[in-house]
Amino acid sequence: MISIGLIGAGRIGSVHASHLRHNPHAKIVAVTDPQMSRARAIAVEHGARVVKDAAEVIAAKDIDAVVVASSTETHSAATIAAARAGKCVYCEKPIAPTLAEARQMVDALGKDHERVMVGFNRRFDRNHAAVQKDITAGRLGRVQTIQITSRGPNNVPSVDYLKVSGGLFFDKMIHFFDMVRWLTGEEPVDIVALGSVIADEVFRDVGDVDTAVATVRMKSGALCQIDNARRAVYGYDDRVEVFGTKGLIESSRITEGSIMRILDDKILTEGLPKDPMIRMAPSYEAAISAFVDFVGSFATPERLAVPTVHDGIRSQIMAEAATRSSREQRIVSIAEVEKLIA
Ligand SMILES: NC(=O)c1ccc[n+]([C@@H]2O[C@H](COP(=O)([O-])OP(=O)(O)OC[C@H]3O[C@@H](n4cnc5c(N)ncnc54)[C@H](O)[C@@H]3O)[C@@H](O)[C@H]2O)c1
Repeated sequence: MISIGLIGAGRIGSVHASHLRHNPHAKIVAVTDPQMSRARAIAVEHGARVVKDAAEVIAAKDIDAVVVASSTETHSAATIAAARAGKCVYCEKPIAPTLAEARQMVDALGKDHERVMVGFNRRFDRNHAAVQKDITAGRLGRVQTIQITSRGPNNVPSVDYLKVSGGLFFDKMIHFFDMVRWLTGEEPVDIVALGSVIADEVFRDVGDVDTAVATVRMKSGALCQIDNARRAVYGYDDRVEVFGTKGLIESSRITEGSIMRILDDKILTEGLPKDPMIRMAPSYEAAISAFVDFVGSFATPERLAVPTVHDGIRSQIMAEAATRSSREQRIVSIAEVEKLIA
């Protein structure tokens, strides 16, 4: 049984806690959050203790592994301290709010980076994973284009969240920067991106955007288009299409149900779920379960492969390139951004 300390008991901390509750190989033994009532609620449910801060979680002798689900600006310090203390860490994305901080984190981790799994849960969506498998097996031939859409849900994060999130490219699109590397198995060459504030003025107030598109050119020439919006009134819309020289594969939208009605001259099918968890929960559950397996396998020759800090910083480089591209209205090469942290 792997004993876990949870740092951060907000939205995603609660999601991880609920999935860990059903994992037969792990249990949460300690929780911390400056908002004590949040920590208490999870602790009561798990029979865990509430502790003062991250340092107390990390120092605890009875804790094998740590889940860092606190706000983005706290990821780096907690992850470094926990990994140095010999614990495996599930670090939520993004690993840091800026590229410079992400670089400092990687330097500070040194060899301990091996203990860290980054929370790129979309790699654990079984439909997206089927697409990746087909590409890797060569079933699509050479990839020509990838279209990724992720829009929604129909609300926006709090201003407090947005202020420390790093902005849409670092906070949301980072998942899909990671995904294009994971799907194609190759690195990007350059990025052109644009962002706008259209649906919610609050994004302008915090210097962010609510709608963005980015086109990423990979080394092979494959062109990947990512289309993200913070709000979608029609439901949670998440899909991936890959077009290659031998055909096309799509991980489609997930609808609320599968009822179809043919009435008069109309065909009516169910719409998209409003709750993003209908799409996302299985991937969060699979990701945290992979972490538990990773911890269990860490000291063995069969150590499980998981998204790494290297993946974290590569996607961060792409987010920086996209941010520069949208601000400066130009194509930004990955090499230019790599030089910033060389
Ligand atoms: N993988 C995903 O799809 C996904 C989804 C949502 C959030 N996230 C990431 O998870 C992180 C948290 O997001 P959220 O939506 O849960 O935000 P949230 O605001 O709901 O929760 C964050 C929590 O962290 C707590 N916190 C702040 N500083 C802390 C510290 N030093 N120690 C312990 N707790 C601390 C806050 O009090 C709050 O309860 C963010 O980095 C976000 O990018 C990832």
